[in-house]
Amino acid sequence: MLSFFTVLASTTLAVLAAPARRTDSYSAQCDLSSIVLKVDDPNFNFTFPDVAPRYVTLGLGTQNYTCSDEGKYVSSGARAALFDTSCLAANYPDAFSVATSTVFEVISQDPEGFVDAFVGGDWQQWAENTTYYEDAPVSLVGEHFFIKNADGSISPRFQVNDEFVVGKLAQSTPAPDATKAVPWLELDGIDGTLANLFFRTNTQGGVAPTSCDPHVDTEEIVVPYVAGYDFYHI
Ligand SMILES: *[C@@H]1O[C@H](CO)[C@@H](O)[C@H](O)[C@H]1NC(C)=O
Ligand SMILES: *[C@@H]1O[C@H](CO)[C@@H](O)[C@H](O)[C@H]1NC(C)=O
Ligand SMILES: *[C@@H]1O[C@H](CO)[C@@H](O)[C@H](O)[C@H]1NC(C)=O
Repeated sequence: MLSFFTVLASTTLAVLAAPARRTDSYSAQCDLSSIVLKVDDPNFNFTFPDVAPRYVTLGLGTQNYTCSDEGKYVSSGARAALFDTSCLAANYPDAFSVATSTVFEVISQDPEGFVDAFVGGDWQQWAENTTYYEDAPVSLVGEHFFIKNADGSISPRFQVNDEFVVGKLAQSTPAPDATKAVPWLELDGIDGTLANLFFRTNTQGGVAPTSCDPHVDTEEIVVPYVAGYDFYHI
């Protein structure tokens, strides 16, 4: 049984039930048409769209890094399994707002075990333990990974059910505890039908060590992380 964090950080994504809005949210699980995401923090500088998200998901996986010649870890990509959290958002907004920290608590108890299981494709086990309520199933709906572009750069790709989006960073803002969690991101969809705007929110973990030795640290490292990914059509 998981214990919930009971304290809500000020910069935590929450949901606000709103009057009926657009109804083009096709969650596999629950109706998101009355859900509007918001953050109660005056310093927070993303503006969430004033429409329902198409999908709210929780990603769990790894941020990957390689050691540069300058002795700094640089991103070499990431991989995550995506779980539909629409029913948590719709039925249990308080649990939804702490879902990433709740899952990260479980992972943090055994990060190496998590990485081994995850790399071996055992994603479901970690998800099962995130199913807090029978009427709010957290089901595996997709995957996040990076694709290589013709010019050698990499782009994040997200698959949810039978749709995908390739993203381009629009803006980034540090997580409330930036030493422990990767930034929150706003991304534009540049390919695919899943979303034309999406966000990485409520991040936990994924931060590389501050320095490395390029002669010693020659292997890619993988750092466990959890984040919300929220997909919109606007
Ligand atoms: C990142 O790490 C995952 C393991 O979590 C691995 O499967 C994947 O291939 C790596 N991706 C990149 C781009 O390095
Ligand atoms: C998930 O929960 C089951 C049942 O409580 C437990 O046996 C298993 O070890 C847990 N897995 C993780 C990754 O915490
Ligand atoms: C959002 O906040 C970050 C960190 O304070 C800043 O670097 C960035 O420029 C801000 N973006 C906007 C659009 O204000």
